[in-house]
Amino acid sequence: MKVAIIGGGSSYTPELIEGFILRRDSLPVKDLVLVDIEEGQEKLDIIYELSKRMLEKAGSKIKLTKTLDRDQALKGASYVLTQLRVGRIEARAKDESIPLKYHRLGQETTGAGGFAKALRTIPVILSIAKDMERLCPDAWLINFTNPSGMVTEAVLKNSKIRSIGLCNAPIGLQRGLADQLKIDPKDLYVEYVGLNHLSWTKRIFVKGRDVTEELFSKDDFVEYVAGIIGGHKGAKELVAALKTIPSYYCSYFFFEDQAIQKDLDNIKEGKGTRADQVMALEEDLFKLYASPDLDEKPEQLSKRGGALYSEAALSLIESIHNNDGKMHIVNVMNKGAITGLPHDGVIETNCIVNKSGAHPIASGQLPRGSSALTKAVKAYEQLTIEAAIDGCRQTALLALVSNPLIHGADKALDILNDLLKAHKPYLPQFYSKEE
Ligand code: G6P
Repeated sequence: MKVAIIGGGSSYTPELIEGFILRRDSLPVKDLVLVDIEEGQEKLDIIYELSKRMLEKAGSKIKLTKTLDRDQALKGASYVLTQLRVGRIEARAKDESIPLKYHRLGQETTGAGGFAKALRTIPVILSIAKDMERLCPDAWLINFTNPSGMVTEAVLKNSKIRSIGLCNAPIGLQRGLADQLKIDPKDLYVEYVGLNHLSWTKRIFVKGRDVTEELFSKDDFVEYVAGIIGGHKGAKELVAALKTIPSYYCSYFFFEDQAIQKDLDNIKEGKGTRADQVMALEEDLFKLYASPDLDEKPEQLSKRGGALYSEAALSLIESIHNNDGKMHIVNVMNKGAITGLPHDGVIETNCIVNKSGAHPIASGQLPRGSSALTKAVKAYEQLTIEAAIDGCRQTALLALVSNPLIHGADKALDILNDLLKAHKPYLPQFYSKEE
């Protein structure tokens, strides 16, 4: 089995390497290729050396290689993992700060920031899918690149490649919930519906028993869930009425003013945007990674939001490879599993996974009180995907005004113009027609 990791120089790669080591019996990987772009060469070299030390320490037989030649990496691959960031972290800093100028949320995946990230990322992932059609047409594209739901939908609609979108949020939610309930995660089953970074835990089962109502009748549980969305004034009352667990990304919609204020305060206090903080974290991480004495994943990596990513990615590949029919919460085409969302739209939900892919389990209506928001965001996502491919400014404007975090065409236009200008080198689809 050959696995290609695109964005191999990412600081998250040691998580994956650890995962491959732990799964040596269930995932017989022979070749592991780390691919990156020229600007990422230095990081790729550091990650490659660290990964080699980790594999050697574990006595692994996996043949590890690194390359800047994507074609070479894709040729003959069975699984392709994408974990790239078009424009690198500097572009994220712009996504997070430009909307704030207009008093709108600047966030990596949600609102205008996520919109800009989608415009930059979708064409690149589609070009990878095209290369895969040529070089490894039967391989699976396991996408972790954000915005994961939109990226996966773009691939599924525009290429023949089989793809599943991933996020670490569902696994993080389940682990946190099991801790809160003081139970073994194996005894927990959640019915999880919605979109990537806008999801809802509709029902909770412990040892097969539906305990949803019982849990939401308890004050301490309601308080715990309110904490997931920031614990602001009104959060407890909202959760008690919803009787469902909103993912923490829902807080950007329910408590938008507080989120914007927090970002503005961070900047005022010199902490910068999350991208600035991640840059500092990465600097420390890469210093550590470069040390020849390090031969395991360092604890510091858990300070990044994507912790447990490897668990999500590799257990998914394990289910495909071993045809084991286990349940995973992943991003797939809806095809009627959730009523009220488009059939041809990607959702994040419970799926049975085997050799033939991820098959969503029908769950019917979205939870009461969540559907207007979820449907609006899906409509925004579909317009954004169109704009990312066509490079049409009018479609992009429609996408932005449809996003519940934008409020108004005047702000949408200003933000759109600023984002397109700031990211011009990464948005040729918007400029090639003009020049
Ligand atoms: C989460 C999300 C990821 C996101 C990450 C950001 O856990 O699920 O999709 O990329 O947080 O973390 P960071 O450390 O980069 O802010």
